[in-house]
Amino acid sequence: MPTLVLATANEHKVREIKEILNDPSVEIITAKDLGVEDKLREDGKTFEENALQKARAIYKATGEPALADDSGLEVYFLNHRPGVRSARYAGENATDEENNKKLLKELGPLSFRRRTARFRCVIAFAADGIEEVVSGGCRGIILEQPRGTNGFGYDPLFKPDGHEKTFGEMESGEKHKISHRSRALQKMMPVLKEYFTSAG
Ligand code: IMP
Repeated sequence: MPTLVLATANEHKVREIKEILNDPSVEIITAKDLGVEDKLREDGKTFEENALQKARAIYKATGEPALADDSGLEVYFLNHRPGVRSARYAGENATDEENNKKLLKELGPLSFRRRTARFRCVIAFAADGIEEVVSGGCRGIILEQPRGTNGFGYDPLFKPDGHEKTFGEMESGEKHKISHRSRALQKMMPVLKEYFTSAG
């Protein structure tokens, strides 16, 4: 069976990507499974740079086709911060809870109209003779208090436009219908399909 290596150390992303791709004909493993987690660096200035850097590094280290996700939350009032620094917003090893707390503090009692935000996800694929980068977004607002315990990261604070539940209150299938990650992966699917069909 052909193999696809996920160039991420984030177990939540691994779970979501596996659920969204839902392809039993490809074996999905992670950089950690192959002991090359230390090759994952995120020092670029954009999601695109980081995603491509991770996919390339893992393809180079393993010789296997690699898929990377770089993603984050852009809050308009904060000039698109935390953006690429979403995971480290409240400090280098910050927990999701600390990041959420910092976000709530920065927004304070701002009205809903000014609490608009967008999740962005950039997916990069690197394999022999091919590099592809695609992206997806999802707009919504940042609530004043967390709601729900599903998902990860900023999910309990993010209520997508046109929906009553936060990502933290949605079942994973509901989130995948509209999420930034799912939208980006839908764009990447034809590329993966073509690659794995001709490779194998
Ligand atoms: P990365 O590893 O630099 O791409 O960090 C991504 C960070 O963005 C995560 O640690 C979360 O804080 C945030 N993030 C990305 N995607 C999601 C999502 O689907 N839900 C909630 N938070 C997310």
